Amino acid sequence: MGDIGGLAASLYMRGISCIQIPTTLLAQVDSSVGGKTAIDFCGVKNLIGTFHQPMYVFADPTFLNTLPEREIRCGLGEIVKHAALSAPLFDLLTENMERLFDLKFLAQLVPENIAIKANIVQRDPNETGLRRCLNLGHTTGHAIELTEKTLSHGECVLLGLLYEERLARKHLGTDNAYLDGLDALIYRVLTRDAREIDVGSAARLALLDKKNTGKGVTLAVPVKKGEFALLELAYDDYVRELKEIRETL
Ligand SMILES: NC(=O)c1ccc[n+]([C@@H]2O[C@H](COP(=O)([O-])OP(=O)(O)OC[C@H]3O[C@@H](n4cnc5c(N)ncnc54)[C@H](O)[C@@H]3O)[C@@H](O)[C@H]2O)c1
Repeated sequence: MGDIGGLAASLYMRGISCIQIPTTLLAQVDSSVGGKTAIDFCGVKNLIGTFHQPMYVFADPTFLNTLPEREIRCGLGEIVKHAALSAPLFDLLTENMERLFDLKFLAQLVPENIAIKANIVQRDPNETGLRRCLNLGHTTGHAIELTEKTLSHGECVLLGLLYEERLARKHLGTDNAYLDGLDALIYRVLTRDAREIDVGSAARLALLDKKNTGKGVTLAVPVKKGEFALLELAYDDYVRELKEIRETL
């Protein structure tokens, strides 16, 4: 909801002030912060959108009490993504695997996640470089979201991370012990079987991703604890390798 409200505020009278009051875990830890607003259009995720920073974000953990478990998992998807960018958060989650669905623990995680995202956004508000790290798992994740209509955004981010992290292992110098730890976090939250995903169809949609720069796809992938890299793959390689990865899951 925050994306639609923020987009409307950015367009009405060429922009009016807005305050975000996120009521989902995903919105509290991610989407209410950073000023990105967008809607999907013509089968492309977030095609119409703006950058419009809210004046304030009021995140009240009380809202989490009524959230269905699936929405908690959805928010955890973005929390795990942040953990792939922040070594302290990765360690905290790994040490507290059994508390990942504990609402008190999640409420404690909200300020830390906001700080991680705000720190990145402040250094690159218009996504010219560093902010691309927040797209970790998202190129493949968004494509899966458009293909598998019953999956939530957070579930797709986790699936995207799972596939893209394996592409990183293949093409870049990665710390595989760390990536195994990231896998463990993903599987703790994900309920959907990653082998059921129609990765061929998803890959076709990934080619439409607005973040692509060359002839193939550009992926922000985790490589080492707290480190990411940009990986460019030719389209044919990307499709073939996603299918190969599915057989190994
Ligand atoms: N702008 C960004 O930077 C950014 C980042 C990540 C995701 N997103 C976008 O955010 C969208 C998902 O947002 P969302 O997860 O906040 O979903 P949402 O706003 O669609 O809400 C999900 C569901 O939870 C219900 N709900 C909301 N608050 C509740 C509460 N406190 N108790 C009970 N039910 C409640 C809603 O009615 C809805 O059915 C996706 O479209 C994604 O693309 C944007």
